[in-house]
Amino acid sequence: MTDGARGQRSAIVTGGASGIGRALGEELARSGVRVVLADRQLAVAEEVAAGIRGRGGVASAAELDVRDAEQFHQVVETLVGETGHLDYLFNNAGIGAGGEIRDYAAPDWDDVIDVNLRGVAHGIGASYPQMIEQGFGHIVNTASMAGFGAGAMSGSYSATKHAVVGLSRTLRVEARQYGVRVSVLCPGVIRTPILTGGHYGRIPDGFDRQLAARFFEQFRPMEPAPFARRVLRALERNPSFIIVPGWWRVFWYLDRASPSLGERLAVRSLRRLKRMLEET
Ligand code: NAI
Repeated sequence: MTDGARGQRSAIVTGGASGIGRALGEELARSGVRVVLADRQLAVAEEVAAGIRGRGGVASAAELDVRDAEQFHQVVETLVGETGHLDYLFNNAGIGAGGEIRDYAAPDWDDVIDVNLRGVAHGIGASYPQMIEQGFGHIVNTASMAGFGAGAMSGSYSATKHAVVGLSRTLRVEARQYGVRVSVLCPGVIRTPILTGGHYGRIPDGFDRQLAARFFEQFRPMEPAPFARRVLRALERNPSFIIVPGWWRVFWYLDRASPSLGERLAVRSLRRLKRMLEET
């Protein structure tokens, strides 16, 4: 990533205090991009930003609850007021809510939809008009492999991630005419706090954090830093989808070729989860 005639590139990363967002922010800064880490966890985001500055990067933290459209506008306006443009928005903040759908309470839907889907819509609403006006920009929405097929004990999460895939693909088609790029990021399993519930999410009743971590180990979690490096390299090609680690593409192809096979794999995964629960 290099700066053009417009000066230093700039990026807003939501969920930038932790996990994938943090790693994206650190890698963006390393490649010379000015970064705003926008997160509900302001103090943590500030620590991360200070670490980046200590290594010579340009970074700041902003308090943002992505459920608040007005606050999102303010974060974008502040950055654009300082730099005159916005190159990247990483709509990355997300939470999980586990468990079987039959056991869901209202917050298991509301919170997940409000953060994972409405939060992404708010980010688009805040940044897209600016990007249209300037005639460039790249919106990267974080979905998941759970945005493609059936999952196990992740109904509301999977629903929002499917929605983010659909939203991103439609936006990409529309945004092209304005010179704005849109990609949807679908991580496999990345070793971050979300795997064990995260700061604002939930894991299924009866699960403890160790059990959740053990379940995800079977998918060989990737570390956030190499993940972020691969994502940023891929972004330069302006792809529709970014699937990292690459071997997860096999599941994508399999599910498209044979949805029933995808469902059988999800059934196995559900059985394994229930067995693990029974054994505790
Ligand atoms: P994480 O739990 O480490 O980080 C999530 C960040 O989002 C936290 O800093 C949290 O404070 C912030 N956040 C939560 N709610 C917020 C809100 N309302 N407003 C602003 N910030 C908020 O999790 P991770 O793994 O870094 O997740 C990032 C994204 O990647 C999420 O959208 C997640 O669904 C997605 N993802 C993660 C995978 C993984 O294996 N870690 C796999 C597939 C997708």
